[in-house]
Amino acid sequence: MDPLQMKIKAAAAALEHVGDGMRLGIGTGSTANEFVRLLAERVAGGLKIIGVPTSERTARLCLELGVPLQSLDECPELDLTIDGADEVDGALSLIKGGGGALLREKIVAAASKRMIVIADETKTVDTLGAFKLPIEVNIFGLAATRLAVEAAARRLGLSGEIVVRASGDGPFTTDGGHYILDASFGRIPDAGALAQALNDIPGVVEHGLFIGIATLAIIAGPQGVRVMTPQ
Ligand code: A5P
Repeated sequence: MDPLQMKIKAAAAALEHVGDGMRLGIGTGSTANEFVRLLAERVAGGLKIIGVPTSERTARLCLELGVPLQSLDECPELDLTIDGADEVDGALSLIKGGGGALLREKIVAAASKRMIVIADETKTVDTLGAFKLPIEVNIFGLAATRLAVEAAARRLGLSGEIVVRASGDGPFTTDGGHYILDASFGRIPDAGALAQALNDIPGVVEHGLFIGIATLAIIAGPQGVRVMTPQ
């Protein structure tokens, strides 16, 4: 099964958790896009949902395919969010933000009663950290914030290159108008401690560690689909 087929399988399995009348957070990324495509078919067939997108990109795809949307302000309490991830461990702690939408993704997931992660088998890990950790930062004070992130990581025994994510000739800018630092810390044994330390830095807007948020993960591999619950 090629990677696209696995994403479609995970998305299709997640769609079984969607029912009529649901208020649904809709994630960002190539796996979430497959979910949107399948959801749009069900909507065309009569399924009634309200979607709240986690990025401008996802909003455009939903509008193109006829998935009804509201903003999170119009619909601030959600039943379920379905989103991809860059890494998933056994506790369903995640690294997210490879697509740069981590802030809205976390706000939307936090406003949801449940979050289902959809991913292919390559995203599962024993310990988070092989994927560069995205950290969304305010543009003001970028150099000071980067130093503070380095110092916080050092206190936890972590080190590695921290780069400002680029897009074309300039820095990548998020939907919220911020930059992203991608931190190559490698293995992160205590993701909770790092999350807390990053939260304490004023210039950090949000980071891609999602801890205690996902309630279920649907993982597609060559052998089929399996479901993970937090261990
Ligand atoms: C977007 O910012 C990310 O959090 C995505 O959810 C994550 O990068 C997974 O994307 P893919 O499904 O494209 O791998």
